[in-house]
Amino acid sequence: MFKSYRKLLSTVAIVALASVSVASAGNASRTYENGKKVIDGGMTYPTKNGMTSVYKVNTQKNYKDVKFGRPATPNEIKAWDIDVMPDGTGLPEGKGSVEEGDEIYEAKCASCHFDFGSGGAGYPALQQGNAYEAKETLKLQRLNPEDDGPQRNFGSYWPQASTAWWYIKTGMPHPAPLSLTDDETYALMAYMLAINEITIDGEELEDEYVLDREKFLKIVMPNKDGFVPVIDGKDGLENVRKFYDDAKNFGGIKKRCMKNCFDGEPKVARIQGVGISDFNPPLSAKKEKPAKKESTGGNKAKEAYDASCAVCHATDAMGAPAVGDKKAWEATLKKGLDVVKKNAIVGINGMPPKGGANLTDDEMNAIVDYMIEASK
Ligand code: HEC
Ligand code: HEC
Repeated sequence: MFKSYRKLLSTVAIVALASVSVASAGNASRTYENGKKVIDGGMTYPTKNGMTSVYKVNTQKNYKDVKFGRPATPNEIKAWDIDVMPDGTGLPEGKGSVEEGDEIYEAKCASCHFDFGSGGAGYPALQQGNAYEAKETLKLQRLNPEDDGPQRNFGSYWPQASTAWWYIKTGMPHPAPLSLTDDETYALMAYMLAINEITIDGEELEDEYVLDREKFLKIVMPNKDGFVPVIDGKDGLENVRKFYDDAKNFGGIKKRCMKNCFDGEPKVARIQGVGISDFNPPLSAKKEKPAKKESTGGNKAKEAYDASCAVCHATDAMGAPAVGDKKAWEATLKKGLDVVKKNAIVGINGMPPKGGANLTDDEMNAIVDYMIEASK
């Protein structure tokens, strides 16, 4: 992934470089262009009337089928070939304080990311409250981030701080990537950690806190373990296999299947009535830490109902007999309890087999009993 991203970056560099002549130094050194500091390989995009202008097309040369740019020089590739890994590989020495970061942020970042990284106007927020306090919900990252999943911000979502160091160094500020020094990047990281209230070794990052390489490597991001399956290490591949072998990790499908999945014609379940456009089933049936769960007193059937059935049965909007609606269930049960239970298992009209969940017949029967009991 890093490789292809790098390729992308060097393509950007090529296009951008076509518009200014950057002196080719012997290494990735700083040079001056029209009195402005630029880096060979990195650049400050040309501006016109105070706005970033479009990249110019190089009509001088055709590089294969592409009618602009030219191949990046080895020196340019070297300038962009930056990896910063969680174990510290690629992370240079340097230092910067929260206070310094604050100043740089005001000057170079706040115009897009707003005060204290609050984001807005289409620019991503760089913090959203205290990342540690969101911890209970961090593991729900596969669910809709709008409700109980973590906000997809640096503090509450990113598993590694090294990614942010790399991202800022190579990608920000947006109009002038690679223009920050290593010390400036450390200072900005210190500021980013401070506004996210992330601690290092239990220490809060006050204004005068100086972040350096050694301290940086001690950062433990709140959502470090929030990504499943764990793909790192020697068990990585096996973890991935297990994860995708478990149907409940991708929506309760019984078995993964690409061909000959059905005996005869597949039954198409259609949901009756109105409200179909609002139908937004959860991506996964159940994750380990639901946001704020009321105690069910160990009632397994109720828990399973909440996880797999309530999405349609909490109201009658989907055309399903609503739990709590005495009349609706009395009408349904005229068919006889056994028929109703069987229908729930094999599906009927808008009711998918087992509600689309990965449940045994016994579990289904217990849930139906619970639904009937709760509707008396
Ligand atoms: C001209 C506007 C602009 C400026 C100035 C700017 N950024 Fe950004 N920044 C963006 C945009 C746009 C994105 C989203 C890019 C994307 O998703 O591809 C972004 C993304 C980011 C992200 C990743 C956010 C996420 O959660 O995905 C970080 C971190 C970041 N910027 C930090 C900075 C820092 C630090 C500075 C100052 C040195 C800065 N930015 C200056 C426009 C800007
Ligand atoms: C995708 C929406 C949806 C989900 C999820 C769902 N149901 Fe239903 N269910 C329906 C609809 C719609 C009906 C009404 C079907 C009809 O009679 O037309 C229904 C009907 C039923 C009935 C009555 C069957 C009958 O014979 O009339 C039972 C019992 C039932 N569902 C149980 C469950 C259980 C248990 C779950 C969870 C494991 C579940 N449902 C999940 C939509 C759903």
